[in-house]
Amino acid sequence: MSTDTSLLSYRERFPILERSNYLINNSLGAVPAAARDYVNEFVEQWETRGVRSWGDSWWTLQERIGDTIAGVLGVPTGTVSMHQNIAVALEMILSCFTFDGPRNKIVYSALNFPSDQYIYEARERHGARLVRTPASADGLVTDVEAMLDAIDDETLLVAIDHVMFRSSAIVDIAPIVAKARERGAFVILDVFHSVGTVPLALHDLGVHAVVGGALKWMCGGPGNCFLYVHPDEIQRLQPAFTGWAAHKDPFAFSPKGQDYRDDGGRFHTGTPNVPALCAGRAGIELVAEATVEAIRARSQRLTTTLVDEALRAGLTLRSPSNAAQRGGHVALEVPHGYAVCQALSAREIVVDFRPDAGLRVAPHFYNTEEEVLAAVRAIREILDGGEYERFLSGDRKPG
Ligand SMILES: Cc1ncc(COP(=O)(O)O)c(C=O)c1O
Repeated sequence: MSTDTSLLSYRERFPILERSNYLINNSLGAVPAAARDYVNEFVEQWETRGVRSWGDSWWTLQERIGDTIAGVLGVPTGTVSMHQNIAVALEMILSCFTFDGPRNKIVYSALNFPSDQYIYEARERHGARLVRTPASADGLVTDVEAMLDAIDDETLLVAIDHVMFRSSAIVDIAPIVAKARERGAFVILDVFHSVGTVPLALHDLGVHAVVGGALKWMCGGPGNCFLYVHPDEIQRLQPAFTGWAAHKDPFAFSPKGQDYRDDGGRFHTGTPNVPALCAGRAGIELVAEATVEAIRARSQRLTTTLVDEALRAGLTLRSPSNAAQRGGHVALEVPHGYAVCQALSAREIVVDFRPDAGLRVAPHFYNTEEEVLAAVRAIREILDGGEYERFLSGDRKPG
């Protein structure tokens, strides 16, 4: 198993680290150099083998990558399906439910990622009753007690984000899963901000379904999100959002209707997104190899250094001060946050800004203490020297 400091040997495999102080791994993890080899191999296969590439490797690549992700989630192989993004993965699991019976409440937190909330709220037109629970008193995290109180015998779904995208606070999910199970509700957990940096043992926890993605801490690039469904649930769910890749024998092209696969492949749709899978494979494999336990130890060290230095520099923390209660990023409230973020980018220090969170700084296992300290020093200089003023009127760009 890798150790905390031995993880630095991975550094040379991520080219962007040579030119940037890259501290935004909770948004888009760095790409390993090996990704280029897999992408080139994909084009080569297309060029030389053409349509036969499906049989050679393309058709089952998503299962192979899903199984690597299953290892990181702490769940059995054959339970993870790959999807374009979280929105699609959520639509997939929601398509297994109807909302016209007495058990039709969706309990979700006001601090869940807004896109997930939009998707749950769209179920209202299909009869769902929405129960949106509040944040904790300090505004940093889902209020677990409020969520527990909201779960009752009419609750169909309970939707939780594991790590808060603004504050990085970790939600204590175990009591929520236990209460949901006791009342017969189905839990959908979003681990996008924890997978690859916070160890997960989701099978042991008994969570029913999980959505997440590889583009943040798993360094797997856009287009590689996933859905896990607990083995006890897979065969009782019949997704209405479906396609031939979910069929037991897709190449039989049977006119007799859908015959769902018995494993997590029943949540596939149509033709797999092979270029994304090829681009993402190297990062996903690397993170699995480094082990999330070792990554977590290093992450806690780096974020503690970051928090200590930020407080010394007079910055305001918008994350839990205790490393055990934080995920991999740290939110810092600074005046003119977006402009400061742009000024940092001009210095090749890459972080992001989110309203109500501030600057999000997210070191990964390949970052050094010095990079983290340099980022805090730069924020202080940009604020004190007025360097941010140059960026005050800039248009907001995605990222
Ligand atoms: C926790 C969480 N859930 C969902 C999403 C939305 O994901 P997607 O764009 O893949 O639908 C994000 C985006 O960053 C996120 O952070």
